Amino acid sequence: MRIRECKTEDVAKLAELYAGFYNELRSRQGLKTYSKEKYIQEIEQHISKDKFFIAEMLNNEVGFIRISQRDGIFWFEELYVKPEYRLKGVGRSLVRKAEEYVKTHDDYAYLMVLPQDRRAINFWLRMGYTILNTIELAKNLKDTEENTRYVPFLGNIFQIYKWKIENYTSLEAEFLELVEQSIKAGTKGETILKIFTDALKNYLKSEDK
Ligand SMILES: CC(C)(COP(=O)(O)OP(=O)(O)OC[C@H]1O[C@@H](n2cnc3c(N)ncnc32)[C@H](O)[C@@H]1OP(=O)(O)O)[C@@H](O)C(=O)NCCC(=O)NCCS
Repeated sequence: MRIRECKTEDVAKLAELYAGFYNELRSRQGLKTYSKEKYIQEIEQHISKDKFFIAEMLNNEVGFIRISQRDGIFWFEELYVKPEYRLKGVGRSLVRKAEEYVKTHDDYAYLMVLPQDRRAINFWLRMGYTILNTIELAKNLKDTEENTRYVPFLGNIFQIYKWKIENYTSLEAEFLELVEQSIKAGTKGETILKIFTDALKNYLKSEDK
């Protein structure tokens, strides 16, 4: 496998990978997908200012990462490996290459990941991205019904959108279901925090750790 920096002449190759990234995500969210042509103009704009690395295997382009810079902070914007080349170390190699690049400028690399995207979160944790740095919040100003799940975090309850295709483990799905039942029964976030705390205290005291 070879990781190389992208040049302006790579736009067409990148467009296929770029469309792969966004269309996979959009399908899971239940949104309509687009042809790769839609992304060409966007990539042309990015390639003039951002850093792209592309992964090649036997002369095939199999994945890419885009790194942007805003106010001296480096962001991993998209990382994508074609489904048939996954779990072969391509994603890791792209991240390590991007980290080497960022390290020449700054000591931290940042990224955003959607809370529903359990697979991506697990991948990033595996890569060592364990600092929860920012919480991005949104509000629906149209006051229409939202199709969301509830997620407790340190005594607060947040909502996350339900996706058409979700990848929760059975334990995660059961947990989310029980939280939803509790919230709908009027339980407050502080109470849920207390329940966790008491359960952990009992667990730490018990023999079967
Ligand atoms: C996430 C993604 C880039 C991973 O690429 P990959 O080439 O399959 O990853 P690698 O083979 O390099 O895996 C590196 C490590 O992460 C682990 N890993 C990879 N995908 C994982 C997943 N879905 N869940 C848990 N661990 C995962 C691998 O097991 C490996 O662990 P190791 O330490 O035991 O070797 C790829 O699945 C992808 O393109 N997904 C769709 C787009 C996406 O989610 N991008 C990231 C969000 S921006």
